[in-house]
This record gives sequence, structure tokens and C-alpha cells, in this order.
Amino acid sequence: MNKGYFGEFGGQYVPELLMPPLDELCQAMRDILPRPDFQTKLHDLLYDFAGRETPITFCPNLSKELGFDLWLKREDLLHTGAHKINNTLGQALLAKYMGKPSLVAETGADQHGVATAAAAARLGMDCIVFMGAEDVERQAPNVMRMRLLGAEVKAVSSGSRTLKDAINAALRHWIEKQRTTHYCFGTAAGPHPFPTLVRDFQSVIGREARRQMLEKTGSLPDFIVAAVGGGSNAIGLFHPFLEDADVRIIGVEAAGTGEPGCCNSAPINLGSPGILHGQLSMLLQDENGQILPSHSISAGLDYPGVGPEHAHLAATGRVRYGMATDMQALEAFKTLTRKEGIIPALESSHAVAWVLNHQADIPRGAKVLVNLSGRGDKDMDIVRPHIFPQGEQK
Ligand SMILES: Cc1ncc(COP(=O)(O)O)c(C=O)c1O
Repeated sequence: MNKGYFGEFGGQYVPELLMPPLDELCQAMRDILPRPDFQTKLHDLLYDFAGRETPITFCPNLSKELGFDLWLKREDLLHTGAHKINNTLGQALLAKYMGKPSLVAETGADQHGVATAAAAARLGMDCIVFMGAEDVERQAPNVMRMRLLGAEVKAVSSGSRTLKDAINAALRHWIEKQRTTHYCFGTAAGPHPFPTLVRDFQSVIGREARRQMLEKTGSLPDFIVAAVGGGSNAIGLFHPFLEDADVRIIGVEAAGTGEPGCCNSAPINLGSPGILHGQLSMLLQDENGQILPSHSISAGLDYPGVGPEHAHLAATGRVRYGMATDMQALEAFKTLTRKEGIIPALESSHAVAWVLNHQADIPRGAKVLVNLSGRGDKDMDIVRPHIFPQGEQK
């Protein structure tokens, strides 16, 4: 696998001390993942605990307005509210097989932290979640959810006190406790083998969706669309479709406020190649390689980097990466909620926004499948002032 390169992107740009646990993880992927008993246990967890398989849902009202068929892959219906649980159950089970009783994870908003805490509770493991001190303050109810599930939440006060710093702290913890602890990384980024490991656990989304579209509509979709933060829900949907040359694949980055400058989370569109968190990928950085602060209204997309496979797929042109602004995502959030009765996560709303804003580029009668990566219940406090500027009673 050439140390996990996707074209020129990927690799293992880590301190020497991280090499032993990364090598051990590569070995475990080779030895444990293919075992039938591992696959059976993972299947049971995904289907009986997390609620797979998730349906694909046709959107009759929006399809009529748009002139093409809009379908949603419903990862929002999963236990804990998003696709993240596909990966955390896989990694937690793998850690158990490796004889590691503890998990460490990072989280920005909460989805990955809660999904890791739930997997740890289910499998009887210890769990520590590092979270930027700023995010701990912003996400108090979610911190409560993680603590209820038995996780220890550690606030990180260094740097910008957000996700980037939480990842650094989790990596340091892993170096210290590598004998007993697995780092349950939350997205398809970071040093090899995480981009591959997370992609393989999330590809269940695309495998199911491919079969379901064939069963329900008789053919593959013309477009598949997903929001890209670190890139796990998107690569999970995209990967099983990459060889289908007629399927157009669209990743959607967060354009943030849409103003020029650094108020965005769109490293593929607006960044340049560089190294962060153990990988060479596209990043938001200044001319001296200093990481620029990212911004998105959706905490799950608020990351200055992206997984290396996406950087590669953008470079080859197989996947097109568009953008949606905070305001477009809010508009899409409102539209999907009102027209179809489905409240999307703000992250997923970026993918919906791309579709709503590219009506002219999508042929009439086309089939468009959007990955609804999570549900919007967690976003009520953020959307409230935008959707009810005069108060909810009005
Ligand atoms: C619902 C939801 N969608 C998407 C994302 C973005 O992550 P990724 O790009 O790894 O799918 C997150 C991250 O927390 C999320 O919670």
C-alpha cells in the first residue's frame, strides 16, 4: 500500500514514537479485519445495535419542484444521530481484538465523541475524549451525553482550543498509553492507516446505497453528493461508486461566510498542499505553512484539512468538489425540513444546498442521491436565531 499514499497525498508524517502503534494497527487490519468472526460481530453491531441498514428516501415534493429525482441516504436515522457510529463500532471492535481495553478519541462538535463513547460502553471499554475547551463550553449538552455514556471528557486549553488542538492532545495521549489504548480517529484523514481504515468502515454507506438504488429505481444514480469535513461520510458513499464512470460524484466543502480570506473550511477549493496531523493533504495555511483558522456554521465541517484520498480524487478529476456557504446551508436546512419533513444536520445541509443551487447543471429527470450524514437535532441552538429572528412564537 506504499505507506498509504493516494497519488502524492497521504503518508505517515509522525514522530518516531507514533510509528509502533501505527504499524501495529496496519498489522491488525491485515490479520483481524478479514476474519469471518470479526465480520460477523461487526455486522451484528451495525445492524442490531446501530440500526443499519439505513433506507434511501425519495423526496417527492422537492423532486417535483426541481425537475429531477432527489433521493437521500438516511445515515441520520442511525443510533447517536450520524454516520460516525459505523466507524467507531468498527474501530472499537478491532481494538478489543487487539487486546486494548481503552479508547481515546477527539471530537469537535460531539458526534464522533458520542459515537465513540457509545461503542465503548457497548463493548465494555474505557473511553477518554479530548475536546477543545472552546467546544466544551459551546457543546455543554453533548459533553453531558458523553459523560452519561461513561466517557471521561478532557478539555484542551492549548492553541485555538478547538478540534485541531484536541487531535494533537489525543495523539500525545496515544503515544503515552499505546500499550493499552487505541486511538479511535473520527474521520478519513490523519496518518496511514486511518484514511483507509475509516473509509473501509464507512463504505457500508455506498455499498448499501448502490444496491438500494438498483433495487428501487432499476439503475445507478446520475449524481451522488456528500458534504466533506475530514471526509469520512463522503468517501464512505463515494468509494463503491468510483468505478462507475457514468456516476458523477460531488463533494461539498464549507465555504463559511463566503467572504474572501480565511473564513471557510474549504481546503480543496481554497487551500494548498501541506502537512497536518500526520498526513500530506490540502490545507488552509499561510505562505509560511502556518495553519489558518477554519470557519463553518457546522462544527463537523470546521477543520482546516481534509483526508488525503479526497485531495487525490480532486487532483485526478474523478470527484468534483463544490462549496456551499453558511447561509446556503441554513436555507437548505429550512427547505428540506419544511418540504420533506426531515431535519438534516447542518453538515449534511451543505450537500443539500449544493443540489438546490445547481438545478441548472442537473439534467431534467436525473437521479440525484445525497448522503444525509446526520440529523439536525444537535443544531437547534445554531439555527434558531436564523430561522426565527423575531422569536419562535411569531
Ligand atoms: C453529521 C455530520 N456530517 C458530516 C460530518 C463531517 O465529517 P466527515 O467529513 O468525516 O464525514 C460530521 C462531523 O462531525 C457530522 O457530524
